[in-house]
Amino acid sequence: MPHSRAILLALSLVILSWPASPAGAAGAGALQRPWLDSSLAPDRRADLALQALTREEKLSLVFGYFGSVMPDKRYTPPPQARSGSAGFVPGIARLGLPPQWLTDAGLGVATQRASLYAFRERTALPSGLATSATWNAGLAQRGGAMIAAEARASGFNVLLGPGLDLVREVRGGRSFEYAGEDPLLAGVIAGAQIRGIQSRHVISVMKHYALNDQETGRNILSANIPEEQARESDLLAFEIAVEQGRPGAVMCSYNRVNGVYACQSPWLLGRVLKGDWGFRGYVMSDWGAVHSTAPSALAGLDQESAYSFDDEPFFGAALSAAIASGEVPAARLDDMARRILRSMFAAGIVDHRDDAPEAIDFAADTRVAQADEEEGIVLLKNAGGILPLPRTLKGLLVIGGHADRGVLSGGGSSTVYPVGGNAVPGLAPGWPGPEVYLPSAPLGAIMGQVPQANIRYLDGSDIAAAAREAARAERVLLFATQWAAESRDAALHLDGDQDKLIAAVAAANPHTVVILESNGPVLMPWLAHVGAVLEAWYPGSGGGPAIARVLFGDVDPSGRLPVTFPASLGQLPHPDLPGAGVPAGQPFNVDYTAGAAVGYKWFQKRGLKPLFPFGYGLSYTRFRYSALRTHVSDAQLTVSLTVTNIGSEGGAAVAQVYVGPTAGGWEAPRRLGGWSKVTLPPGGSATLSIRIDPRLLAVFDAPHDRWQRLAGTYEVWAGDSAATLELAAKVQLPAWAHGARWVAPAPTTR
Ligand code: BGC
Repeated sequence: MPHSRAILLALSLVILSWPASPAGAAGAGALQRPWLDSSLAPDRRADLALQALTREEKLSLVFGYFGSVMPDKRYTPPPQARSGSAGFVPGIARLGLPPQWLTDAGLGVATQRASLYAFRERTALPSGLATSATWNAGLAQRGGAMIAAEARASGFNVLLGPGLDLVREVRGGRSFEYAGEDPLLAGVIAGAQIRGIQSRHVISVMKHYALNDQETGRNILSANIPEEQARESDLLAFEIAVEQGRPGAVMCSYNRVNGVYACQSPWLLGRVLKGDWGFRGYVMSDWGAVHSTAPSALAGLDQESAYSFDDEPFFGAALSAAIASGEVPAARLDDMARRILRSMFAAGIVDHRDDAPEAIDFAADTRVAQADEEEGIVLLKNAGGILPLPRTLKGLLVIGGHADRGVLSGGGSSTVYPVGGNAVPGLAPGWPGPEVYLPSAPLGAIMGQVPQANIRYLDGSDIAAAAREAARAERVLLFATQWAAESRDAALHLDGDQDKLIAAVAAANPHTVVILESNGPVLMPWLAHVGAVLEAWYPGSGGGPAIARVLFGDVDPSGRLPVTFPASLGQLPHPDLPGAGVPAGQPFNVDYTAGAAVGYKWFQKRGLKPLFPFGYGLSYTRFRYSALRTHVSDAQLTVSLTVTNIGSEGGAAVAQVYVGPTAGGWEAPRRLGGWSKVTLPPGGSATLSIRIDPRLLAVFDAPHDRWQRLAGTYEVWAGDSAATLELAAKVQLPAWAHGARWVAPAPTTR
């Protein structure tokens, strides 16, 4: 449907009249334009600005443009859009309101349509799973602040991240963008990233709401799950992130949920997000996720993103017509505009306008990414203490993974083009590729650790030659990769012949250390034969030194798995990927029969032994847990315990507390109730106090729209993974119920 001329004219006037250097937000202008008074509350400012907006201006605020050309659709972005960007929404110069300049994503500043535009070279954080594996909200917040500062310096004020769909499907092609399988961990980590992003006056867009848990058929599938089970799993992650981060915007997802497209679901948008959770920001669509005008507007969609991805422009002229006919009340358009304005004021994008691009301190930003990766690397196996590597090493063989040139990153809209360019260009064709290697070479960093050693590198393409060399080597470091990307799901194994390579090398030399750069879990048929395994995820811009520092013991590995590693496909709730083989465009259902039993909860419920459990990760030292106590006050449970470093190295423990009802009745025997990460010198100990969110001791009572805990005996466990819980205690808890509208306590930065 074409735009009406009037709207086009209004929009182009709005776009063209935005001055390169808008009038200052404060001072005399504020007298005539009181919404520019930064001493007023965002709500008040939004109300004042709304009163001054014309209908056309309101319509322009809710209608987004893609920021890059689409030759196939003969689409050209407005001239003011940043080149090769994800999106643009015109400002209203008359009122001193800046445009919204949108960029992906949660791992750093991306370039869209990189084949058509000059790359924007920026710093990449390690993958979302790496950040979650730190169990360190402070690091997540710093990472968010770093990428948002780069976004701002690149001319963007809206960042399309973080993503936190639960990793229900371990083959999900975007697991690397997400925060793991547990709602508490994912919500706390994403909430901290949002706080970091918005601390740099950039609106954070939490995505993809909701249940966009696989890529296969993402535009058409229906994720089916009973309400209470969704509330206790995927939705709880978003709920916690909303409370702890207060994102300015939420992106509704491509898929349908219980038969209804997420971007037109009155339940997801109206009742849960804006109703129960009291979300004050705006809902924007994913690129191409809108399917209607009035149903979307009435359900709660506030902004159509990049309309050129939708079958037709559903907002803009069509929304104007729906308002004129009374199908959509004018008050709903006011609500959309008010929400957008409120977030613009709240995040500070109206008051902070850096017209001149700032220089980015890439060295400092790389250190932020490196610190994140150093705490996110998970040591999965360390037979006979083969790690850390001694600095007295004389010879070392490094194999594979392009470790001589860089570290792998994931594909799709989140791809960050690194400073210095792709270290291994030309690997994969078009979108969602290419495979991008960040030029932070582990090999160079390893050489820096042991300058005296004789280090050889083989690319691993000749398996027999690699095995021959390995037989003669003192130690072997084998880098293995799995590339994954948006729009397609991954297999549960390493790319190409790498399993064979590892098996052959390990057979020749048991002192083989495997370093995985993967989207998420992979099967490890060679596990019994290698000396050690490190999961380095996608390691980010500081990946090379981070890996080397963990290998040589400068850093104690303190990453713990945010996702269960299955031992076989047969252990998964869906051994066959749902929708595989369904012709493109044909709707299908993904029935989440596991309900809220995601990841480790599924494994516990079914009595399955995973390859590596959730929460697991070795250290170079050892910790002992003791003195588990429970404290109940005002129906609130707090748990305390003591952790002692009983090894001979300093290190960081992640003390995990799990909870469950003695009488059963939950989705699984245990849920993560809380954790605390603490660094201890040899012999050091600390007593930790961990408050359990009452919702984690309750079930969601959908008919009454409330959380409810039955009176009874509950169990509390503590230890260092979901499967290794040394301590247990019982506690009597009184009955408790709370309406679904939650008043969140102050965010915690663990
Ligand atoms: C992705 C979003 C992304 C958007 C803009 C979509 O394909 O699903 O995560 O933010 O594109 O690039």
